[in-house]
Amino acid sequence: MSELWCARNIDTLFSATQIQERVRELGRQITQDHAGRELVVVCVLRGAFVFMADLVRSIDLPITCEFIGISSYGNDTESSGVVRVTHDLAHSIEGKDVLVIEDIIDTGLSIDYLLRNLRLRGPRSVRTCSLLDKQGRRQVNCPVDYVGFTIPDHFVVGYGLDVAQKFRNLPFIGIYHA
Ligand code: IMP
Ligand code: MG
Repeated sequence: MSELWCARNIDTLFSATQIQERVRELGRQITQDHAGRELVVVCVLRGAFVFMADLVRSIDLPITCEFIGISSYGNDTESSGVVRVTHDLAHSIEGKDVLVIEDIIDTGLSIDYLLRNLRLRGPRSVRTCSLLDKQGRRQVNCPVDYVGFTIPDHFVVGYGLDVAQKFRNLPFIGIYHA
């Protein structure tokens, strides 16, 4: 293991192998649930890009990939509750079946804002898939259709998740001790 990760005191929560197994299961489930349909998979930047890249390869359906950037965190670890779109979808989702891919749902403020924003664009359906779910910290009620792992209230990094934009490239998910 790299000295940098050890020095930063990051304890493994889910190994790369555990993540890959769960991602494959999610892909199979999504494939079954949407049999005969075409999906627009929307990656929420930046945290979901690693998860999305693996997940789409486990979905056996015709899909297109879209990216939307939202910002709800500064460089600290607390949600500001202020959400804005920093990068918008490239194509219309009107009449389409949409699957939103998130890295983690914490307070729920970001996904709640995003779902309201996307529904205004007239999609046929919108479902959500989040790799991680910190259920205990929810501030708004938001349905999540597919969850990789439910986790306790720890700040986690790796596999796309960052602290101050760092550690997104770790192949595992670890608990970050500041
Ligand atoms: P929410 O709006 O509070 O649900 O926050 C969701 C966003 O906050 C996620 O998409 C992440 O970018 C970020 N976030 C929340 N918890 C963590 C964490 O433990 N590690 C890294 N980022 C997190
Ligand atoms: Mg983030």
